[in-house]
Amino acid sequence: MNHVTIVVGAQWGDEGKGKWVDVLAAKSDIVARYQGGNNAGHTIWISGTKYVLHQIPSGVFQKGLISAMAAGVVIHPVGLVNEIEKMRATVTISPESLWISARAHVITPWHIHLDGARESSASTPIGTTKKGIGPTYSEKASRTGLRMGQYAKDDSRRTWVKAMLESDNDFREHYNSNQASWDEFHGAASKISSFVCDVETRLRKAIATGKRVLLEGAQGTLLDLDHGTYPFVTSSSTCASGACTSIGLPPKVISNIFGIAKAYVTRVGAGPFPTELLDSVGAEIAKKGHEFGATTGRPRRCGWFDAVAFRYSASVNGFDGVIINKMDILTGFPELKICVKYKHPTLGELEDFPWDADVLAKCEPVYESFPGWTQEIPKSGRASDMPENARNYISAIERHTGTKVMWVGTGPGRDEMLVN
Ligand code: GDP
Ligand code: IMO
Ligand code: MG
Repeated sequence: MNHVTIVVGAQWGDEGKGKWVDVLAAKSDIVARYQGGNNAGHTIWISGTKYVLHQIPSGVFQKGLISAMAAGVVIHPVGLVNEIEKMRATVTISPESLWISARAHVITPWHIHLDGARESSASTPIGTTKKGIGPTYSEKASRTGLRMGQYAKDDSRRTWVKAMLESDNDFREHYNSNQASWDEFHGAASKISSFVCDVETRLRKAIATGKRVLLEGAQGTLLDLDHGTYPFVTSSSTCASGACTSIGLPPKVISNIFGIAKAYVTRVGAGPFPTELLDSVGAEIAKKGHEFGATTGRPRRCGWFDAVAFRYSASVNGFDGVIINKMDILTGFPELKICVKYKHPTLGELEDFPWDADVLAKCEPVYESFPGWTQEIPKSGRASDMPENARNYISAIERHTGTKVMWVGTGPGRDEMLVN
């Protein structure tokens, strides 16, 4: 029997994947990130200390666990070297415990420059993290990208740079006028090369020999390149099937898919967000939930739970179980709302999430209201011990989304969760 679990963000990212991957990693042998890059910011609190991981998978704090970064990830080498050095103060990191895919593509200073330039000149900016994610995945799709296996070897890395210098005037200008960044880029290769290996073959062998493997998504389903709110998306396949593509896994080896959502919704960057609250309630959720981006520090937009978007996310991913996170933040609000359908000015009532971001932007949420609760939610134990109105809220999410809530998040710490 296989033990392969995928953890997916069910909304627009920042659902609390880091915390839950850390928790679920306690029962795993390997945790592998399957897409995205250092646009991600996954927060984990351990014994009162906060850690934000951008590239290293979130299982790294569990003793004896192997962390892997698979082919679908894009890697910022200098950032990764720094992250490894920083983490070494707390955990042991060696080529045995951190595997970096030779197939993963490399984010270069050029890609970061392009991301910034495209955002500044766009008539409708996406609000990217400016980490070079889009340009790196574009280069990969154009089949002119640099992979980690190539980056790790001095001569093949230099060959790639030479070819770019010869073929692209803008690249050449950037290279010549940003020597410091490029020197740093070249310098990181020798620090990282011993970690680079055939991650995908190792993972398939590990699964075949019964190892418990947890696949960690970054971003969220509504930011998926194909299935999200295009063009206001990231450039990778964030959803569960993306894990199989990234690693080269037969979909049938997957045993469990868990979706994580906040008890409300947040979004960073531009794009339609039907349940966004631009009033004092939204500001209060942002304040109580400390809703600031873990990577860019930008304020996150906040809104009510959107069951239409979540139903869509559940249908794209096929969740076996759902985690409703940050339930503690909703304590004290007199009234809570769940969006159960949309109303569009010309298309009428919509129960399905539209493919078109322009249509979504014009959708008004149709809400069902719920009385709130004032008693604190217990930090751990069973969801049945929550105040009655909190239990009703979770049941309403299940009813409106046709999913089973397995756990409820009650705080940022490892133990702050309820079993439903
Ligand atoms: P990720 O990108 O999905 O890993 O999520 P982030 O780390 O970007 O954002 C989630 C934030 O919520 C972090 O600051 C976490 O420490 C925090 N957090 C996670 N779970 C809970 C929870 O159940 N309650 C509260 N209050 N905070 C949580
Ligand atoms: P984690 O893993 C929230 C958003 C950006 C922008 C869009 C495209 O922490 O949940 P990109 O830099 O990827 O080209 O930006 O995607 N975005 C995220 N939003 N959480 C993230 O990661 C995100 N990574 C990218 O804000 O709207
Ligand atoms: Mg985050």
